[in-house]
Amino acid sequence: MNTLILTANPADVRRAGGIIASGGLVAFPTETVYGLGANALDPEAVAKVYKAKGRPSDNPMIVHIAFPDGISELTENVTRDMMKLMTAFWPGPLTMVVPRKPIVPDVTTGGLDTVGVRLPESETARLLIAASGCPIAAPSANLSGKPSPTRAEDVIADMDGRIDAIIAGSPARCGIESTVVDMTGEIPVILRPGVITREMLSEVLGKPVEVDPAVAGNVARADTGASSDADASGKAGTGLKDAAVPRAPGMKYKHYAPDAEMKVFAGDPRAVRAAMEKERIELEQAGRRVRTLIYDDAGKAAANFYTDLRCCDAEGVDVILAAALVTEGVGFSVMDRMVRSCGGNIVRVGDADPAENKAYNNGGKKMIAALAADHAGYELKNAVKEHLRERGYKIVDLGTNGPESVDYPAYGKACGEAVASGKADLGVVCCGSGIGISIAANKVKGVRCALCTSEEMGKLCKEHNNANMIALGGRLTDKDLALRIVDAWLDAEFMGGKHQRRIDQLDEI
Ligand code: TXA
Ligand code: MG
Repeated sequence: MNTLILTANPADVRRAGGIIASGGLVAFPTETVYGLGANALDPEAVAKVYKAKGRPSDNPMIVHIAFPDGISELTENVTRDMMKLMTAFWPGPLTMVVPRKPIVPDVTTGGLDTVGVRLPESETARLLIAASGCPIAAPSANLSGKPSPTRAEDVIADMDGRIDAIIAGSPARCGIESTVVDMTGEIPVILRPGVITREMLSEVLGKPVEVDPAVAGNVARADTGASSDADASGKAGTGLKDAAVPRAPGMKYKHYAPDAEMKVFAGDPRAVRAAMEKERIELEQAGRRVRTLIYDDAGKAAANFYTDLRCCDAEGVDVILAAALVTEGVGFSVMDRMVRSCGGNIVRVGDADPAENKAYNNGGKKMIAALAADHAGYELKNAVKEHLRERGYKIVDLGTNGPESVDYPAYGKACGEAVASGKADLGVVCCGSGIGISIAANKVKGVRCALCTSEEMGKLCKEHNNANMIALGGRLTDKDLALRIVDAWLDAEFMGGKHQRRIDQLDEI
C-alpha cells in the first residue's frame, strides 16, 4: 500500500478526514503520542487498525472526540464526576472509561461493555475528528510492542506502507500516553497513569482516586526507596509475570520495549549512578554499545523517554541502563512505562540499612503510610504527611486535598482498606474531632484505629492494641501535639502476651 505523507495544514487535515470517513486509516499527532485512527463506529475500519499494528484484538481502543458533547453519542449517562473531569482536563491527556452505548461496535472495545473516551488537546487531532464527521478510534501508531511514537518519523518508520496516510505534524508535548481512568464505579480507578496524576484527579473530584493495584504493584518494583523481591546483592527482580492482572487489557502485554536489552537501576541515587557507571564500563570493555538514561525531571523524562528508546535502537545500542525516577506525580507514570520497557529487569542498589532508619523496620522493606482526611482534617493530614516523609516513610495520600466540604466515611474507609489489604503498613486519618473517621476506618476488617488526643494514648494504643491506624482531630489537637502523638505511636513497641490474645479476639468480631 502506498502511504500518503501529509502535513498538518488544514487542507491536508481535511483530506485526511475524508480518508477516515470512507473507512481508511490515518496516523495523526496528539499531545501525548501519535495515534492511528479509524472511524470508531465502523467495525471493518477498526479491524484494519488491529491488523496494521499487529495488535491482539482483545485490546480495546480509545475513542477520540472533537467536542465535549461527543461523549453523549458514546455513553448514556454523563455523571457529575465525569463533568468535573471534562471541565478540568479536556481538551487534554485524559481518557475516561465509561459504559458504552450499543452504537459503539464490539471490535472497538475488544468486546467490553465500556468505552474509553478522550478529547485531545492537539488542534490537528481535533480538526481531523471534526473533518471526518465521526468519533475516531485510535491506539498509539506504533507496531504492537514497540515504544509509542512521539515524532512523525517514528510513525513513518513503523507504519509506512501499512496505512492510507500519515499526518506528519509536530512532536508530542507530553510524550507518554493519556491517563486512563475508569469512571464506572463510585471510586474512580486509574488503569494507566499519565501526566494527569492521581493527585490532580482527586483534587478536582474532592474524593479519593485509586490506582489499579496491578499498576501500582508494577511500579513499586522500581521504587527508589523501597526494597523489592530482589535481594541486597543486587540480583534482578522477577519479571512481569508475577504481577496481578491489570484491568486495562492493554497494560498486560510487555510493552514499549526497545530492541536493545534494558536494565533499570533503583535505590539511593548516588549508589545508582555509581552502579550504572561501573556496569557501563564493564559492558563497553566487553565490546557492547551502551547508553545510559538519567533524568532529573519527571516532566522531561515523560517527554523524552520513548524518543530516547527509539534513538537507542536507531543507533544500534545493545544495552540501555536507566536510572529509576522517584515514583511520585508524573514520575510514577514514567516508572510504569520504564518497568514495562525493561520487562521487569530491575536491579536494586544501595538501599538503606534497616537498622539505621526507623522507617525501614518492616523486614527491611520501606514502610508505607496511608493518609486520609476530610476538609476539617486536611491541614493536619498535610503536617503528618510531611513529618512521616521526614521519618523516611513512603506516603499514599488518599485525599482530600482542600477545604471544600466532603463526607468523612469514604476517606476513613479508603484508608482502612489500604491498610487492611497490605497496600500500606499503617494509616493516619484526620477529621474535625477524629471520631467519625475513626469509626469509618474501624468498620474495615483487620483495622485497629485508635483515636488519640495525648501522647500517652499514642504510646498505649501501640503497646496494648497494636493499633495499625490512628485518628486525630484537626479541630481539637494542635499540630505539634499531633506529631508527638504520631511519634509516640510509631516508637512504642507492641507488648504481645495477653494483649495479643485480646487483639486476636478483636479481629474475630
Ligand atoms: O494518549 C493516548 O491515549 C493515545 C493517543 C493516540 O490518544 N492512545 C493510546 O491508545 O495510547 P492505546 O490503544 O495504545 O492504549 C489504550 C489503553 C490500553 O491499555 C487499553 O487496554 C485501555 O487504554 N483501554 C481502552 N479502552 C478501555 C476500556 N473500555 N476498558 C479498560 N481499558 C481500556
Ligand atoms: Mg499503545
